[in-house]
Amino acid sequence: SLPVPNVQSLAASCHSASSVPRRYIRPELDAAADVSDQLPVIDMGVLLGDQDTPSARDEAAKLRSACEEWGFFHLVNHGVPEEVIEQMKAAMEGFFSQSLEDKLASSAQAPDSLEGYGQAFVVSEEQKLDWGDMLFLFTQPPNMRNTNLWPTHPPAFRAALERYSSEVKKMSLALLMQMGRGLGLPAERVAELFEDCVQSLRMNYYPPCRHHADELLGISSHSDATGLTVLLQVSPVPGLQVRRSARWVPVSPLPGGLVVNVGDVLEILSNGRYKSIEHRATINAEKERLSVAAFHSPRADCLIGPLPELVKEGQERYKTLSSEDYVRLVVSAKLDGKCLLDSMKV
Ligand code: SIN
Ligand code: FE2
Repeated sequence: SLPVPNVQSLAASCHSASSVPRRYIRPELDAAADVSDQLPVIDMGVLLGDQDTPSARDEAAKLRSACEEWGFFHLVNHGVPEEVIEQMKAAMEGFFSQSLEDKLASSAQAPDSLEGYGQAFVVSEEQKLDWGDMLFLFTQPPNMRNTNLWPTHPPAFRAALERYSSEVKKMSLALLMQMGRGLGLPAERVAELFEDCVQSLRMNYYPPCRHHADELLGISSHSDATGLTVLLQVSPVPGLQVRRSARWVPVSPLPGGLVVNVGDVLEILSNGRYKSIEHRATINAEKERLSVAAFHSPRADCLIGPLPELVKEGQERYKTLSSEDYVRLVVSAKLDGKCLLDSMKV
């Protein structure tokens, strides 16, 4: 990977349109559609309520079609305590508002590693760069934590991260069981895969840009290589956009809500029934934007491939790999600029 500048400090020194480096500017960037199409909203309280009521059955049907048709949905009544979310937001705001030196002193990425504070991998000098910095950390299981990279400021950062991580993990397992039900999977089968899931958190910081906001991306279009993603939009600023047919649908944060999406691993496990959809983050002219994505993947010793009980008449649509080989493929697909899911198709 090639070193790239810190975007937060770059943005602070961009006082004119010409001071934004060309490597960030995408003159061809297609704007979001002015669509009335709205992301489905799933109510977890209703979903987990009395299963025999028509409203619980309706909600389960809505969840299944959200996973099959959209790959993305808003989740409300999710049960992650508000206080845990507020503490996580405060922790991130406290971390990113420090000086560059202080952020690097506690959490700098090691060379050739994604973990810690820095930027996503860059593979070529020609590649357009993302207008954002990130703090990426493994959070579950606890023995995968590299706590030497966990911020020490604000002082409550670690406690906030730990609580947020475990509450989101618990909620994700309950949600995955409901999503599994839509595929006809028993809860125990989902637990086998995800009870001891691998969880990582990507905390994103996107500075504003007055001069070129419409020609920048905070995160280029991608689908998530992992299983299930839970996104908290920390700032009340729109930015997330989801691909729907050939258009980009803006997904503004719902107060108190989370955004959930199906990742590549879930598409593969479900043999293509649930869809992993491309998305991206745009940049605001005036306001900074923060978000945190929590990625959940099956236990490290699980195979990544279509679950045999979901394959009808031997029609496997994806290969099966060990977790290790899958991770290797994710990295090499990225390096070649290829779509990971295409590399997994049989
Ligand atoms: C992501 O795709 O991981 C983040 C999207 C966002 O910042 O809303
Ligand atoms: Fe993503």
